[in-house]
Amino acid sequence: MILKRAHNLKGTFQVPGDKSISHRSVMFGALAMGTTQITNFLEGADCLSTISCFRSMGIQIEHTPGLTNVLIHGKGLHGLKKPEGILDVGNSGTTMRLMSGILSGQSFESTMNGDSSIQKRPMGRVIDPLSQMGAVIHSIPGGGLAPLTISPAKGGLHGINYLSRVASAQVKSAILLAGLYADSKTSVTEPYVSRNHTEIMLKRMGADIRSESTTVTILPGAKLTGDTIEVPGDISSAAYFIAAGLLVPGSEILIENVGINSTRDGILRVIKAMGADFEILNIRNTDSETAGDILIRYSELKAVEIGGDLIPTLIDEIPVIAVMACFAKGTTVIKDASELKVKESNRIDVMVKNLSIMGADITATEDGMIITGGKPLTGATIDSMEDHRIAMSFAIAGLLSDGETTIKNAICVNISYPNFYKDLERLGAFKNN
Ligand code: S3P
Repeated sequence: MILKRAHNLKGTFQVPGDKSISHRSVMFGALAMGTTQITNFLEGADCLSTISCFRSMGIQIEHTPGLTNVLIHGKGLHGLKKPEGILDVGNSGTTMRLMSGILSGQSFESTMNGDSSIQKRPMGRVIDPLSQMGAVIHSIPGGGLAPLTISPAKGGLHGINYLSRVASAQVKSAILLAGLYADSKTSVTEPYVSRNHTEIMLKRMGADIRSESTTVTILPGAKLTGDTIEVPGDISSAAYFIAAGLLVPGSEILIENVGINSTRDGILRVIKAMGADFEILNIRNTDSETAGDILIRYSELKAVEIGGDLIPTLIDEIPVIAVMACFAKGTTVIKDASELKVKESNRIDVMVKNLSIMGADITATEDGMIITGGKPLTGATIDSMEDHRIAMSFAIAGLLSDGETTIKNAICVNISYPNFYKDLERLGAFKNN
């Protein structure tokens, strides 16, 4: 994919459905009794991996490729059957980690594997707490890495009070899901609150689940009931267009129906602090998740400091925030974000290396990066490392740079945003190509 400097991005459009909510709607719909009707489901490769895993465990899922309506015929907490082969999660960390919690409570053995990236990602963070609950999880290569084999818990699962080192919704959700199968209540306390889609959706479906400050507690044995889930647009996908709208001169973009749950809206707080010209219109509730339309206009930005409890609310947006920081006046400091090192790629290293190649003033730190804005960027050849968020961030950088930017392995946007380049084109990003 080749990108050149752009001007005047204009238009109204919608980004695809939220990835985190789409995954959960399939998983929890499978564990509920009756049908779960999903609209605006994200047809990205990660969520399709989740559908295929649950089909392998005997769940009937109606989904016509190309359509975003999905119908799950749930069979209750104990309705899954032993899959024939290995459960393939593809590139999806959310699928592997949340399913670890669900599979720990089953009476059959199963093995999960995925692509070469998933085989490098730390699974010890779910294996440890689930093992404390009595789960039997074996990392085949060792070191807490996938493939993982999960055998029935001999004495069943036990409730625990878990103090997590990391603010991770994947870890929290895995433990809460195992908690549905435990013999007493389970609670998870995080250093900062991570995204709460699991809590919202499980509660709607009938689970006894409560949140207080940074602790979530769940009682076992709920009878979950199928639900109607209207998935809002993914704010993590909207982030690329927020950045493009703010930075490409002359732009005005309206992104409709974006999820703005307060555990996910850190990017909006950041652009406000950067002095962005934007509005959130038409704020409404779509089945307990809040959504709104985001109107973005070209703006002069100033630097910000980002850290602490803000980090989990924008963790996936940090690569594109780093791009924005290159065009902001002053020095942006991103700290407390060492989680970036264990995403689909090491996002601190990859952003610092490639933005440096393009001419940015950027330095890696132990837990983030420091970026001084104002140096013009020059197009370069960027390897996405097969990380969808890296590919999309550098596509935006390419629209703001002199010369040509070539993204290698650009197709990996399929993971979360199959029509990303088409939507950029519709807004006029390729008029100069
Ligand atoms: C996700 C949680 C985040 C995020 C990932 C999706 C989820 O990961 O980076 O893209 O759906 O729970 P962590 O919870 O590990 O931070």
